[in-house]
Amino acid sequence: MTPGGKRVVMVAAVADNGVIGVDGDIPWRIPEDFAHFKRTTLGHTLVMGRATYDSIGRPLPGRTTVVLTRDPSWSADGVLVAPSLPFALELADRLDGDVMVVGGALVYAEAMPLADEQVLTEVHLTPDGDTFYPEFDRHAWLERRRDTFPDRDVVWLSRA
Ligand SMILES: NC(=O)c1ccc[n+]([C@@H]2O[C@H](COP(=O)([O-])OP(=O)(O)OC[C@H]3O[C@@H](n4cnc5c(N)ncnc54)[C@H](OP(=O)(O)O)[C@@H]3O)[C@@H](O)[C@H]2O)c1
Repeated sequence: MTPGGKRVVMVAAVADNGVIGVDGDIPWRIPEDFAHFKRTTLGHTLVMGRATYDSIGRPLPGRTTVVLTRDPSWSADGVLVAPSLPFALELADRLDGDVMVVGGALVYAEAMPLADEQVLTEVHLTPDGDTFYPEFDRHAWLERRRDTFPDRDVVWLSRA
């Protein structure tokens, strides 16, 4: 939850070995999962690390983007900048919709204790990677819904 009481939702695509990224990119291309990401996040505020923003390269339409960076000189057109996660969450209280935390690794890890929901695409691959989703206690979360596809499952988790 944010200080103002908004829901904090983690949205991630995670391989079976926990990998979420390699060399600044995502190590798979699943167009249907991009469409799912868009449906899930439209109208909400995205909070992301500066490296994730760089890998996307532009603000995503229909969403407000808050980029976390410790570099006070960093800026990009069409995005808001925050120097810490608490600052980003306070900012998000005044912005559209829920707060969607969309990576990368340390941002997910820092936000996990505050998260109310996780929307995870479990990608059935074991790619090489350098960036991982944080471990979390599955027993602390209720699985509300699971959609199963040949190459992936999409699961909606709420804090128990
Ligand atoms: N599969 C998925 O769902 C998914 C989602 C997102 C990203 N990814 C992948 O993950 C990789 C990028 O993630 P990453 O973990 O390397 O980097 P990241 O979290 O996106 O960005 C790291 C940067 O964010 C800033 N930052 C992070 N936490 C901060 C905090 N608490 N306060 C202030 N600034 C903070 C710092 O920027 P400065 O250095 O500018 O200070 C830090 O160097 C890429 O490979 C990307 O494709 C995958």
